[in-house]
Amino acid sequence: MLNRSGGEHMSGQEPSRRRLIYGRRQGHKLRDRQRHLMEELLPRLAVDIRSRTDVLPAGAGRRPLWLEIGFGGGEHLAWQAAHNPGVDFIGCEPFINGVAKLLSSIDECGLTNIRIHDDDARDVLDWLPDASVERVFLLYPDPWHKVRHHKRRFVSPENLDRLARVMTDDGTFRFSSDIPDNVRWTLAHVRRHGAFRWTANRPADWRDRPSDWPQTRYEVKALEAGRSPCYLTFRREQRQPVV
Ligand SMILES: C[S@@+](CC[C@H](N)C(=O)[O-])C[C@H]1O[C@@H](n2cnc3c(N)ncnc32)[C@H](O)[C@@H]1O
Repeated sequence: MLNRSGGEHMSGQEPSRRRLIYGRRQGHKLRDRQRHLMEELLPRLAVDIRSRTDVLPAGAGRRPLWLEIGFGGGEHLAWQAAHNPGVDFIGCEPFINGVAKLLSSIDECGLTNIRIHDDDARDVLDWLPDASVERVFLLYPDPWHKVRHHKRRFVSPENLDRLARVMTDDGTFRFSSDIPDNVRWTLAHVRRHGAFRWTANRPADWRDRPSDWPQTRYEVKALEAGRSPCYLTFRREQRQPVV
């Protein structure tokens, strides 16, 4: 259901909980095989955000959980899942063609540790238990260049609250962008929020891509266009014991 500003209301939610997602939901028509994967494989991998028993808190005998927000075509998520078979992954992405692309990679590579939410990451953040996610990736989020659109950026006080709640103490939040204003915005919001610490000590820490941080499609496009990506790593501060 499109609204006038091009945002889309999430389906499957109570009207009072409906949120806006800005940006495209679908590009070109899916190929037959992709449509088949969307119909057959996606329902088996979909996160059931109506179930309260789907995910246990960290440390309750469960494997580590890593989350990617807005995985695009899923190149980074598939790489991480293949290289970290002992970790469970949840990927969130409302763009259907991106979901279909990730499903193809999962099918071709036989990956068994990825679950998918083909919608707004905020649903999953609100559903996950406290301190259940060890690592969060937010790579090249939509920059929303116009000042009047800045409030659409994913990094916001509300979403940092969501991340702070679901992340484990000392958990890692990785962010990348090729848009300097988006990087400054993120650093300023994270600093103001207070639950995260930027881990960089020297320029190479944010200029050079770590070897366990594969490129995404947007990163390749940015480099081809002559833009320089920034790689930010934040650590979730330890929670203070309640006295
Ligand atoms: C600029 S693209 C980057 C995609 C990918 N991370 C990459 O680097 O190639 C941003 C992505 O975030 C997704 N996105 C936007 N809002 C989102 C939300 N609320 N939850 C999950 N994904 C979202 C968009 O659909 C889009 O695919």
